[in-house]
Amino acid sequence: MPHSLTLLPGDGIGPEVTEATVQVIEAADVDVTWDRHRIIGKTAVERGRPALPPDIIDSIQSTGVALKGPVTTPVGQGFTSVNVQLRQRLDLYSNVRPCSILPGLKTPFEGTDLIIFRENTEGLYSGIEHYDERLQIADSIARVTKRGSERIIRFCFEYAQQRGRDHVTLAHKANILKKSSGLFLDVGREVAAEYPEITFDDRIIDALCMDLVMHPDRYDCIVSTNLFGDILSDLAAGLVGGLGVTAGANIGDEYAVFEAVHGSAPDIAGQNIANPTALIQSAVMMLRHLDETAAANAIENSLRALYQEGAPLTPDVGGEASTSEFADALADRVADRVAA
Ligand code: NAI
Ligand code: MG
Repeated sequence: MPHSLTLLPGDGIGPEVTEATVQVIEAADVDVTWDRHRIIGKTAVERGRPALPPDIIDSIQSTGVALKGPVTTPVGQGFTSVNVQLRQRLDLYSNVRPCSILPGLKTPFEGTDLIIFRENTEGLYSGIEHYDERLQIADSIARVTKRGSERIIRFCFEYAQQRGRDHVTLAHKANILKKSSGLFLDVGREVAAEYPEITFDDRIIDALCMDLVMHPDRYDCIVSTNLFGDILSDLAAGLVGGLGVTAGANIGDEYAVFEAVHGSAPDIAGQNIANPTALIQSAVMMLRHLDETAAANAIENSLRALYQEGAPLTPDVGGEASTSEFADALADRVADRVAA
């Protein structure tokens, strides 16, 4: 089936990993027409345009699905994160980040197989911020709503059920944040009661972070509010080989944007050494979302075989290959698998 999809290469390592991912998708013989938008974030602002140009929103509203590279967000001042804007404008309330260890990758955290579900539109990232110049007081409001909590928690349980997962942990800080985290926990308990076949527990976020490093194999699906989910997913990425391998998806009722957990990695941008695996695994999630199961399987199995063999891999996972060498090797395997 032909697909028309939005492609946002982003900046930093974004264009390098996006190009590699498109190459691999094309090798899987998926019929895609890409609506490419390169001007976003800093490149848009430099041209006097909004950081998130309206034509990007229009494109995703028409295609329904985007594949996105990372976009740099200035620290402390400057424009509001394009990523946060995109998630809020398109109401992409579920951020799904699977973290399992690729075959052959050595990490001290054997048995890790987690899916982090992060509420993606509210909480501390609501954008309700205020600075009182006179009093020199800064406020960032963590707005948690019953509706917002219910839909991400329900999404997590539904996703778990569809994939035969049997345990959900809710991460919170309801001992201190009695209102916002307290509401999220109350709603979690209510929703969990509707899924008796899935066991449910809750953990206070700081103790959970410690326990995830000590006993990652004890966890399955973890659902949390925006800030905790953001931090937890980078922590979980570290358990399974780093940001170079960890996929993500932003999913709402109408639209979906697939992107890696990692950022624009300015420290390695332009050097052709970034690992495109994270975005390629995000593309696998995208292909499943589009019911392109055969292509998704071909890419996933080729990727696993390549990691199992241990080469060619990029430096972040202990190899010596460049981004393009890795992409070429993977694309060849995918094409062979599709032709077979
Ligand atoms: P980062 O994720 O870009 O980098 C953290 C570390 O991981 C760096 O050492 C980097 O080299 C390494 N790394 C990340 N991705 C890699 C890959 N694919 N292959 C090999 N190594 C990789 O996080 P950082 O440095 O905190 O953020 C940089 C910028 O990215 C910031 O402006 C931030 O706001 C933005 N960002 C954007 C996101 C998005 O567009 N979804 C998500 C996270 C951050
Ligand atoms: Mg993050």
